[in-house]
Amino acid sequence: MFRAPADSSIVLPSTRASGRVRVPGDKSISHRYALMGALADGESRVDGYSSGADCTATLACLRALGVSIRRSGPAALVVEGRGVGGLQAPREPLDAVNSGTTLRLMSGILAGHPFTTVIGGDESLQRRPMGRIIEPLTRMGARIQAADNRAPLTISGGSLHGIAHEPAVPSAQVKSGVLLAGLHASGTTRVNEPVPTRDHTERAFAAFGVRVVRDGTAIEISGGQRLEARRLTVPGDISGAAFWAALAGGTPGSHIEVEGVGLNPSRIAVLKIFEAAGVLAARSVDDERAGEPVGTLRFSADRSLSFTVTPDEVPGVIDEIPALAALAAMMPEGRTFTVRGAAELRVKESDRISALAAGFRAMGSAVQEYDDGFTLEARPLKGGSVDAAGDHRLAMAFAIAATRAAAPTTILGASSVDVSYPGFFEELARLTGDVR
Ligand code: S3P
Repeated sequence: MFRAPADSSIVLPSTRASGRVRVPGDKSISHRYALMGALADGESRVDGYSSGADCTATLACLRALGVSIRRSGPAALVVEGRGVGGLQAPREPLDAVNSGTTLRLMSGILAGHPFTTVIGGDESLQRRPMGRIIEPLTRMGARIQAADNRAPLTISGGSLHGIAHEPAVPSAQVKSGVLLAGLHASGTTRVNEPVPTRDHTERAFAAFGVRVVRDGTAIEISGGQRLEARRLTVPGDISGAAFWAALAGGTPGSHIEVEGVGLNPSRIAVLKIFEAAGVLAARSVDDERAGEPVGTLRFSADRSLSFTVTPDEVPGVIDEIPALAALAAMMPEGRTFTVRGAAELRVKESDRISALAAGFRAMGSAVQEYDDGFTLEARPLKGGSVDAAGDHRLAMAFAIAATRAAAPTTILGASSVDVSYPGFFEELARLTGDVR
């Protein structure tokens, strides 16, 4: 019998990984549908809403701002929109918990409302850089106080005017926060992003009937537009599916199929990297919902090849780097995975370079850390215990790699998976045939 320490899960070695799986609703799209539903005129229905704690934090913030949101099924919501500019001052500070997307997108909306709100989060969120959203919102006319440009933010909004903004670091959250503020502003707001980031905000705006103009690398929105309430379905999260790709790719003879997953072109760059690493990755687009393509992914192990993520590829796969590292750690000894130009990983839910390096080293891999990335070299994985550093994506990455270890592995801080993937460990046990 295994007895796991509190907040940990034990992953057993396994030689098989097969089956079909559905992943939780896409985290990025869920946030956007809830926020835009709240700003729309009338009642929106959202199916497939992410069960993750990050997206629940967005709902709690919206409720505190006077939005009525009902659950009409396990992943189904009814959101009573209050119209653009129609939110009410909250009685207490808003809590974004662990969610950077909640904080940065909500800041854009709060900047457009004529009251003062405090919005903060947990210790991890309080360490993350917020100057990148404070600066453009301040330039638009909001007053924002934040010690050292960190959460909590005290936002006094109202009377915004459009600006042109070029984020110094590619960020879909900053782009989206500024465009949401632009909706509440006079004139036109323009965000230029030389390196494109996920475009769910642009697609969601279009679905809610708002005109956004793409002009080369820039996106423009005119203030004063209204949103029409909609019925929407959130596709499955490809960032969650990436862990099953790693599991299949690292397990000879495996075959994993992920159904109903979002295949937005700005999110599928990771499939090419998996292919370069020798994972067979087939996809079929089955449907398009509210401008978001949805389909099926099939993964199986073929060859194990050393692979890289180059600086220009980083923004397109930023959330999947832990899953790619898991695949690399499961490969035959001596295979390597190098990522450079990814300093941004240091300001995610954890310092994802040093926490990832520490964890995979503890499991047996050789990891060389750089300021802006790392090289992981596969070595036999030995089992033991590894700390997820409170980071959901690291907990999942270590758990996937642990299936190929010589002995059981205890994942410390395992409950962090609830941030984006409640039920992850149960799915892992099912796919690997762990019948404890
Ligand atoms: C997200 C954007 C990315 C990503 C995050 C979700 C979004 O963050 O890492 O998980 O929904 O816009 P950045 O905008 O900070 O790159």
